[in-house]
Parts: sequence; structure tokens; C-alpha cells
Amino acid sequence: MTPYLHKLQSYPFEKLAALKKGIAPPAGKRHIALSIGEPAHATPHLIQEALLIHLHGLSNYPTTKGLPELRQAIAAWLTRRFKLAEGQLDPETQILPVSGTREALFSFAQCLIDPTADPLVVMPNPFYQIYEGAALLAGAEPYFLNTVAENAYLPDFDAVPESVWRRCQLLYICTPGNPSGGVIPRDGLIKLLGLAEKYDFVIASDECYSELYDDENSPPPGLLEAAFAIGNTAFKRCVVFHSLSKRSNAPGLRSGFVAGDAAILQDYFKYRTYHGAAMPLPTQHASIAAWGDEKHVAENRRLYREKFAAVLDILGDAVQLTKPPAGFYLWIKTPIGDTEFTQQLFAQENVTVLPGSYLSREFGGLNPGRNHVRIALVAPLEECVEAALRIKDFLNTL
Ligand SMILES: Cc1ncc(COP(=O)(O)O)c(C=O)c1O
Repeated sequence: MTPYLHKLQSYPFEKLAALKKGIAPPAGKRHIALSIGEPAHATPHLIQEALLIHLHGLSNYPTTKGLPELRQAIAAWLTRRFKLAEGQLDPETQILPVSGTREALFSFAQCLIDPTADPLVVMPNPFYQIYEGAALLAGAEPYFLNTVAENAYLPDFDAVPESVWRRCQLLYICTPGNPSGGVIPRDGLIKLLGLAEKYDFVIASDECYSELYDDENSPPPGLLEAAFAIGNTAFKRCVVFHSLSKRSNAPGLRSGFVAGDAAILQDYFKYRTYHGAAMPLPTQHASIAAWGDEKHVAENRRLYREKFAAVLDILGDAVQLTKPPAGFYLWIKTPIGDTEFTQQLFAQENVTVLPGSYLSREFGGLNPGRNHVRIALVAPLEECVEAALRIKDFLNTL
């Protein structure tokens, strides 16, 4: 086995299963799971139909690069969404389909990191667990940027020592963030682009929640948009990761893409020809349909907005929380320890949430996930409301 394997922690959901083991919640209350970030709204018909119509494509091996039509549909979507100049993105060299961003966020580090150069991979803390696993298995050391309430749960890039930037080969950012929903403003992205150039590192911008935002008039900015705005029209050192899982309620489709710096993507393409995970042809056709339609995405946002409003109405006074600008999580401070909170809530109310400390690491004397829980508003509205009422009842017992 690779010696790096033992550095991996068990996944948060394994820890959660262990935490709940042996506890018998009240039988009269049906279980409500708000722990996993799996979208539960219906997958739009246009995606299902495109998939079905193209099932015959299963008789062919797909290529790593994917169909030109898919890359063109993605380029058109990125151009519209992030206000790029027409023709600025070359579908031939600046876009690659991936089988969900999870495998891409992981494999990208395996391709990019030079383990002989004492590498650091910088990432937010708490974080989507793949970043850390990717860094460790690529032979790099993770460096965490604690995100705390005082900084709107965003990383404080100004506080990073120069010695860290010098060793940094890859910076993962997650905007909108999981778990907090925090959005890095355009100025912040522009500042990062300056740092990436100065210290010669690559920015992997995980934007898979970018389409789930509260304010229709202010969609979260993206890294390509920021690069374009400052004249980095070749998107040097930038790679963005987008997914249909959350945007289009299709987590089982396993469809996303990476886009950005052509030189980096050329190497990553070579890597992927060995890595595998080419996207099946029916999935590519379903993805073309999905990236070409915004109506279902607007409806999706409406459903989340409805749930946030209802749940905040119930929990707003009972607990310290702020409405996130994007994403589908509530990241709340707990009046007792986060694992205790989770365990007791399950035992008393049969509601499962995720302890914040399962998503974070102790770094610089602080574990920023501690005393927080993540509540995924993925269940239907009535279930979210029911869960919020039960959480409120539980809070009243503390
Ligand atoms: C922050 C973040 N990035 C990436 C992913 C992976 O999504 P997918 O592989 O479905 O595209 C997730 C899934 O939960 C996530 O929360």
C-alpha cells in the first residue's frame, strides 16, 4: 500500500454512523436526515429524457475529451453565466468533462502536485473532505485556513504567511462554501489571482454550489470571471470545477466539468487518459440538455429559498445563525459540543445533522468546526419544517 494511505481519516459519515450506533431514537417520530448534502428535488425531465433517448450510446466507449457538442454547451454556459467575451473560452483546449467533480477534485491534485518539492496544498477549514485526501495521497502537506464567524466563514488569505505561499503548489477554494455557504467576493478572487502569479501556484476553484444562491440579482462570482475582469484572458493558473449534481438535482448522473488554463488542462487531459472516468455518452447528452436550460435551475433556487425562509423563521431566535448567501446548508453554532448535540438530537428527536468537527481539523490551536453543526436543507419543505420544529424543541431542553 502507499505509505500515504494511513494518513487518511475515516469519512465524516462513518464517524457519524459510529456516533449514532446503539442509540434508539423515539419510534413515534420518523427519521429526518439533514446530514448528507445529497439534493432531493426531482431530476428534471429534460435530463432524464435526453439520457433515455441516447441509451444506445452505451455500445460505444466514450472519449476522455467528450463530445465537442458537450464542450461547446459548457463553454456557452460559462460565457453566459460569468460574463466572458464571446469566443473567449476554447472548448477544444480549455474544457474537460469529468464524472462528477469529486473524482476531478481528487485526481487533479494527483496530476498537479510535485511531491519532490516539499509541497503544500492550501485549503479552507472546515472543508469538503476530498481536498485533504487528494493532498495527502499526492504526497503533499495540507495547510488549513480556519474559517470563523468573525470573517463570515471565509478564509483570511491576508493572514497566510509568505513562507506558506512559497511552498504552495495548489490552493483549493470552495465558493460558495461547504459548509457555510460563504461566497468569496470578486475582489477576494482577484487578490488570489495576484498571489497565484506572484508565488506560482494553481487555484482550484470548487464552484459546485454556484447556482444555488439567494439573491437572483447577485449570483456568486466565479474565478474565470475574476480572471477575465483583470485581463487574465488565458485564465492562467485557474481551474474551475462545476457540477450538475446540485445545480440540476442530478447527483446520480455523475456529471461535471473542469475549465480554465489550457496548458494545465493539456497535462490533466493526458493524466485522465490513464485515470479513466470518461463520461458515458448518454450522460454527455443529458449534460448538454442540462447546461442548456436555466428554467429548472431557477425553480431549484426557489425551492431552496422557500425552505431557508421557513426554517429560519422557526430557528431564527432559538440559535445563533445567519442566512447564507448561497448553497443549501445551515451552519449553526451549538450551545453544547457538536458531537453531543448531534447525538442527543438524534436520541430525542430522530433528526440527524452532521457535527462540524467531522468536517474540520485542529489547526493553529483551533478546530473551527467544533461547536457547529451542518444542516442540509435537502429534504422536502414539510420535512425541513418538521425537523426545524424538533430542533427548536430540543434546543429548549438544553
Ligand atoms: C464542496 C463540494 N464539492 C464537490 C462536491 C462533489 O460533487 P459531485 O461529485 O457530485 O460533482 C460536493 C458534493 O457534495 C461538495 O459538497
